Amino acid sequence: MTALAIPGLDSAPTAHQRLLEWVHEVAELTTPDRVVWADGSDEEWERLTAKLVEAGTFTPLKQKPNSFWAASDPGDVARVEERTFICSVDPQDAGPTNHWMDPAEMKATMTELYRGCMRGRTMYVIPFCMGPLDAEKPMLGVEITDSEYVVVSMRVMTRMGSKALAKFGEDADFVPCLHSVGAPLDEGQQDVAWPANETKYISHFPETREIWSYGSGYGGNALLGKKCYSLRIASVIGRDEGWLAEHMLILKLISPENKVYYIAAAFPSACGKTNLAMLEPTIPGWKVETLGDDIAWMKFGEDGRLYAVNPEAGFFGVAPGTDWHTNPNAMRTIERGNTVFTNVALTDNGDIWWEGMGEPPAHLTSWKKEDWTPDSGELSSHPNSRYCTPMSQCPILAPEWDDPNGVPISAIFFGGRRKDTIPLVTESRDWNHGTFMGATLSSETTAAAKGKVGVVRRDPMAMLPFIGYNAADYFAHWIATGKRADAAKLPKIFYVNWFRRGEENQFLWPGFGENSRVLKWAIERIEGKAAAQETPIGYVPTLADLDTEGLDASQEDLEAALKVNREEWLAEIPLIEEWFDKMGEKLPTSLKDELAALKQRLNG
Ligand code: GDP
Ligand code: PGA
Ligand code: MN
Ligand code: MN
Repeated sequence: MTALAIPGLDSAPTAHQRLLEWVHEVAELTTPDRVVWADGSDEEWERLTAKLVEAGTFTPLKQKPNSFWAASDPGDVARVEERTFICSVDPQDAGPTNHWMDPAEMKATMTELYRGCMRGRTMYVIPFCMGPLDAEKPMLGVEITDSEYVVVSMRVMTRMGSKALAKFGEDADFVPCLHSVGAPLDEGQQDVAWPANETKYISHFPETREIWSYGSGYGGNALLGKKCYSLRIASVIGRDEGWLAEHMLILKLISPENKVYYIAAAFPSACGKTNLAMLEPTIPGWKVETLGDDIAWMKFGEDGRLYAVNPEAGFFGVAPGTDWHTNPNAMRTIERGNTVFTNVALTDNGDIWWEGMGEPPAHLTSWKKEDWTPDSGELSSHPNSRYCTPMSQCPILAPEWDDPNGVPISAIFFGGRRKDTIPLVTESRDWNHGTFMGATLSSETTAAAKGKVGVVRRDPMAMLPFIGYNAADYFAHWIATGKRADAAKLPKIFYVNWFRRGEENQFLWPGFGENSRVLKWAIERIEGKAAAQETPIGYVPTLADLDTEGLDASQEDLEAALKVNREEWLAEIPLIEEWFDKMGEKLPTSLKDELAALKQRLNG
């Protein structure tokens, strides 16, 4: 190794050779002013949050302990799917849904962007572990970044610092994750509050299990343990090793008889995962506890059941719409402090506010750092504004949330945001039919990704932006997963839609805590206790089959929410066909068969 005169570079608290070499290589390329190994201590949190306050990135909140308000650059507010690349050697392995670039070409391009990109900044080395630290094989990673905001956020979202580094030994496997905001500082140059670069790349190298991110400080683009590692790279590892990395919440449902069920649910970004994960049931006797709100890794246990682990340690939740009425448990979690709020509004007394929190105050500082009043005519908070808060603060956290064995899943829910066609809930006929439901899942686009909002697109298993390989191969992996276990031990698959609308554009289903009624029906189906109607698309409850006691909604709306509308489904078929055509030759035959059978049932 060359002796570089960068302070901190040679005080590495590890003897892991590959890690040391990589850190030297990156320091040499990016030429930071100093190198700091993140240890995850309270002292480090205090030092870095103070630095962020001084830089104008953070404003400390007066009304919440140890919590901060941040406003990003207005051009850096969401994931950038157009700039996200799967750089497999063979373009076929990125498939028809991902942006692909040759790995050598991408590395050549990005190496030039990284050259000198940390000038004037500190380079942080963050060892982290996704999932429990005491797993048989801890899933390790190291993020190198020049952003204090990233270090602080990674502390909330992952198990990081010294406790993670202790798992590295001298030669453990880890995923190298390189991140830079791409904003070098010249001598004496004044920094901005949210450094970023207009040029952005979020690149994944599936064969070598590497992640290179440049130009953005936004969560999904910059906290590389989350989407990049735990979904895109982990989905590739799961394909190779026979498990599933999914965009799913994990919740524990306890019946009035004290029977415990675990449910995993995949909804696209900003379609209700965090809310469902923390649900407060409206039906008496039922309880929910939370294990995860965004990502699930699922593997078969020795008993042949599918067990899920949440790789994360924090919630990165959508702020707008979160309130004491919709998600009281999220409110209680953030009340406890230790939370970073990004792109929400700041109140004059040093608290946060966003749309959906009741009556707006007379004056706010908007996410654009402008004066805001209720007459301003624009939103005070960005629709994709977020709170980043430790899971450990959630009052309904399940005690087994950190169990390396995970929890056995009884039901998988797929769901999207559709104003028509998709009924409130449909039970699949079997695993392959459930896989078909997931593979053809559709949803209106949201503010969680840059681009137009409200456009219906296929979002298979809510994983469209996160499958790290060929989507058709991913479907085949799902089909194969169903063959690896006894059909009776597999989770039952359901398709839900909380977002169907009526003639006045009103939501037909009240949602939120009332979704517990749908969970109850699903569990009773599993137990053979609830009835359903067989329809061309699967088993759908009639209104009488659902527990509607005390539900405040019109019978007309509820019936419309449950309706299987043949005309709407016939209009859906060509869209599914177009989607399957796009998948090409690798599309599993069993999914083609499912489509043919659906058509036949609709026309029969
Ligand atoms: P996530 O990004 O998938 O975790 O979604 P969130 O749970 O953060 O919810 C995203 C948005 O959808 C928020 O504005 C929620 O208030 C809203 N939302 C969540 N669940 C429901 C529901 O059951 N019904 C309705 N109408 N809106 C919901
Ligand atoms: P979400 O997570 O699914 O909670 O919106 C962030 C994202 O998917 O971008
Ligand atoms: Mn997500
Ligand atoms: Mn969420």
